[in-house]
Amino acid sequence: MKIGVLTSGGDAPGMNGAVRTVALTGLARGHTVVGIRRGYEGLLEGDAAPLAPSDIDGIARLGGTILGSARSAVFPTAEGQALAKRRLAELGLDALVVIGGNGSLTGAHVLGEERPCLMVGIPGSIDNDIGHTALSIGVDTAVNTIVEACDRISDTASAHRRAFVVEVMGRRSGFLAMRAGIAAEADAVLYAESGEGEAQLVARMREVLARCFRPGRNKKRALIVKAEGVEMPTSKLVAALREHLAVDAPGVEIRETVLGHLVRGGHPSALDRMIAQRLGFAAVLACEGGKHDVMAAWDTPGDVGERTADRSVRLVPIPEVLAETERLLDGTSPVTQRRLGLLRTAEKLMSF
Ligand code: F6P
Repeated sequence: MKIGVLTSGGDAPGMNGAVRTVALTGLARGHTVVGIRRGYEGLLEGDAAPLAPSDIDGIARLGGTILGSARSAVFPTAEGQALAKRRLAELGLDALVVIGGNGSLTGAHVLGEERPCLMVGIPGSIDNDIGHTALSIGVDTAVNTIVEACDRISDTASAHRRAFVVEVMGRRSGFLAMRAGIAAEADAVLYAESGEGEAQLVARMREVLARCFRPGRNKKRALIVKAEGVEMPTSKLVAALREHLAVDAPGVEIRETVLGHLVRGGHPSALDRMIAQRLGFAAVLACEGGKHDVMAAWDTPGDVGERTADRSVRLVPIPEVLAETERLLDGTSPVTQRRLGLLRTAEKLMSF
């Protein structure tokens, strides 16, 4: 077979491990594997070359993606779709493995509608906002990066007995803030899924900070981890809390740190490398098995999709993945409900 592989959308640590395993497995099993550069943008330009073992040596430990990535504005258009199909035919691909997030998987599904070749997805996005996979490639590393950053901030915050608001990535999903916040011993986590307005947020955080710095509590620092998706700008929240602190805990100062793209870089964790490799392996086997419009998913909650020889990997139809992704983001998925329920329980203890 001739198998293409591309990485698309926001890069995620571990994508290289998936590229490496797709290429290595493909080559070892007698296929040609073509690396397409800069995601769908590169596909439109026919920017592709066969991958040799020497191209993929040592890449699993690297952050980012050696193939490059892009958010293509042309690809979703009718002209973009037609051109992409022509390029697939010119490249003579039997299958295309797409490693990326929600937008990239949507792209794979739409492009695959007339089955120009087999389409197999692998979830890669630090936000953990992809349906029917317990984890996407990059999430574990991003959580660890946030925890490390919060630990460092806690050192300086404790030295000055300050409050900090740390904003972390997650455009439509508060998962990173939730998981990292708990691990970093945060006093509160703010996420858009709570549906709180600005006044409610400020009132709740005022209470949290007042509890943290109440007389006799002797707490060294307060840490609030805020997801990017929360509409209230971090600077506005911090300004409001500064005013309240002046009344509730005179002398205690508050600072903010926006971690931004720092969270997306760095060497992938061992877990991300392992997930990437097992999903990459399953993706090649899916191509050989003639599977189309499916995503290799990790530890799928519930009984969705098709089992593979790997107990942790299932093949889930991409349309089902996309539908569940929407439910995850609009809060109607039982997975989101469960996460929010757990967090509400944890919140009662966090700022005790
Ligand atoms: O990949 C997901 C993500 O990191 C979001 O958390 C963030 O909002 C977005 O990408 C940033 O994208 P860009 O790098 O295009 O600004």
